[in-house]
Amino acid sequence: MDIETVDRTTAEAASTSPDFAHVPLEEINAFDPDLLQDPYPYFRRLRAEAPVFRDPKTGIVSVSTYDLVGQVNRQPLIFSNDFSSHLRSGTTTGIDPDEAEIASQGWTVANTMLTADPPGHTRYRKLSMKAFTGKRLQALARTVEGAAHDLIDGFIADGHCEFKSAFANHLPMIMIADALGASRADMDKFHRWSEAFIIQLGGVSEKPARLEAARRIVEFQRYFVDLIEQKRANPTEDVISDLVHADLAEEGDPRKMNYAELLSILQQLLVAGNETTAHTLTAGLYYLISNPAEMARLLADPSLMGNFVDETLRLLSPTNNMWRVATQEAEIGGVAIAKGDVILVRYGSANRDETIFPDADRFDIGRPNARNHIAFGVGIHTCIGAQLARKEMLTAFPIVLDRLKNLRFQEGRNTFKDSPNVLLRGVLELHIAFDR
Ligand code: HEM
Repeated sequence: MDIETVDRTTAEAASTSPDFAHVPLEEINAFDPDLLQDPYPYFRRLRAEAPVFRDPKTGIVSVSTYDLVGQVNRQPLIFSNDFSSHLRSGTTTGIDPDEAEIASQGWTVANTMLTADPPGHTRYRKLSMKAFTGKRLQALARTVEGAAHDLIDGFIADGHCEFKSAFANHLPMIMIADALGASRADMDKFHRWSEAFIIQLGGVSEKPARLEAARRIVEFQRYFVDLIEQKRANPTEDVISDLVHADLAEEGDPRKMNYAELLSILQQLLVAGNETTAHTLTAGLYYLISNPAEMARLLADPSLMGNFVDETLRLLSPTNNMWRVATQEAEIGGVAIAKGDVILVRYGSANRDETIFPDADRFDIGRPNARNHIAFGVGIHTCIGAQLARKEMLTAFPIVLDRLKNLRFQEGRNTFKDSPNVLLRGVLELHIAFDR
């Protein structure tokens, strides 16, 4: 069958992944690049055979059902988000001296939101939430509208484009640059830096890629330290100015955040929202083109737009997995957890848990409980950019669908390869054709 005409579920089933059906779970390499291309058969087996599974080769514990992921995330003091030191100490690839030498040319970064536990987490999160006011979100939605039209103007006359690089990568970047108060002219740098952080977080890249990522991260830090100083001297109406001037009230000792804290928060805002939103925008079109009946349904009834966005988030789960580290002995799903155990909460699997989402591999924009997905996480670390990302997608998709008619895949151009990353998921490219 021509790959251009099959739906996602069939494409996944027809992927090049090794056949895991008869291989014991213990023998499967969960970080195998082929498996990462299509982890869903493996996830299905995990949910059925061992919803909490300790990989004997790595010691990493996978938690893969909707219910158990929720249970882990609701105990943040036991299942800690302070995982950065564990990643560096050899859990996946480890950090080597050359990487450390490059990093030493920059700033040491504090653990703030994503990589912090209460009470620090609570303080940093409160300050960051304050920076995303309703008024600012409204202004950003107007930014998205204008930017979406400008981007489409750039390629519509061609009748085709590679949607991720022509549209989806730019929109979240423009949005976050505007929110932070950085220059849109530096967008290419932002993209390079965002990729570098993802390589570091993913933990499976080869050494040359990791060294290059470390160099880019130092570049990112120098750029933002300059910007922080500019905003300190001349505050403007943006998130960086708010954060630089905010009081981090620590046990009755108000103080401003230092570089280590500010750089950590800025890096999270830059990275967490870009690739995830870009992948979701791309996947939304991918699923619609792959499922013509769902495309027709959405075009006929735009009130389904919100549910379509949620169904896309559920099925893709751009943050497919996330780390946790056990701070003490515990038990989850009947499995004993030791202090220091590294855990992968598998959002991508939880969002296809058949006990919650019947016929879970199917893309159904009318799915009654699509909104119950946990693609934005669950518990105290639930995405702080969820509202922003939703607004962005609810603004962008209608513009794309209105302006690009008769959307289809470009003949022979698509491989539908996913980014080879443990944490993040989404196709690398999507070549589409359309009528004006
Ligand atoms: C489709 C888009 C997005 C998806 C799927 C997504 C997904 C997630 C998930 C799953 C988490 C929880 C991580 C955990 O369990 O430890 C998270 C946290 C976070 N996200 Fe997002 N995100 C998206 C967009 C954004 C945007 C636009 C921003 C920035 C404005 C952002 C900033 C953050 C931050 C700072 C955290 C850490 C929050 C904390 O630890 O308290 N995300 N996101």
